[in-house]
Amino acid sequence: MENQCPTPHNGAKYGDIAKTVIMSGDPLRAKMIAETYLENPVLYNEIRGMLGYTGTRNGKKYSVQGHGMGIPSIGIYSYELFNFYDCDIILRLGTCGAIDPAVKVGTVILAETAATDSNYGYQYDLPEGYVPTATPELIEAAAASAQRLGIPYLRGKVFSSDVFYNDVQKELEMVKDGIQCIEMEASALYTNAYAAGKKALTILTVSDNIATGDALSALDRQLGLKNMIEIAFGM
Ligand code: HPA
Repeated sequence: MENQCPTPHNGAKYGDIAKTVIMSGDPLRAKMIAETYLENPVLYNEIRGMLGYTGTRNGKKYSVQGHGMGIPSIGIYSYELFNFYDCDIILRLGTCGAIDPAVKVGTVILAETAATDSNYGYQYDLPEGYVPTATPELIEAAAASAQRLGIPYLRGKVFSSDVFYNDVQKELEMVKDGIQCIEMEASALYTNAYAAGKKALTILTVSDNIATGDALSALDRQLGLKNMIEIAFGM
């Protein structure tokens, strides 16, 4: 919907944003990815500091943009990218807290499904039993990319929570439902992709383990980020 651009949240003109968008919660991380991995990155958005850039890598056009924290924030940005800017694929790179003691910090997780306590999906009148799910071909492409690069990964069920400072016991109980980790955005991204007929995947690095108290060092956080970026560009 070209006539909806720019939006109150995104200053890009229609056509400024690539079909494939790599997103991260922190806009400064998006800036770093664009400046490190893209040729000729051009800044298309600065509204609210939610930096977005378009450039090329290996001859393919990509955009890299922040999405902020939480479901309402990624809900707005991903809705606009899919529906107003006609983007086809969004790859979110993020961090998560593991609730399964067996899932070590630093593990890369391809988030196959994202259960949630959010009511974000009410707007779409979703079919009963709907589960926010990554696009299968993107899961396969990310798994193949990780294998080529020799980066270990898990395919996981995640929980997209509306609450960061939550009751830890309640969080840990979700292990029995098969949930491995908690983050705050994947379900809204998947639901927007489903409603728009578009494609999405969330790739996560486990930054902390809520069950064991382990946390990644700053250096290992950088390595986790590097691994996820390389998986995404290798897809
Ligand atoms: N909870 C929710 N989101 C997160 C966490 C967490 O413990 N760690 C990283 N993102």
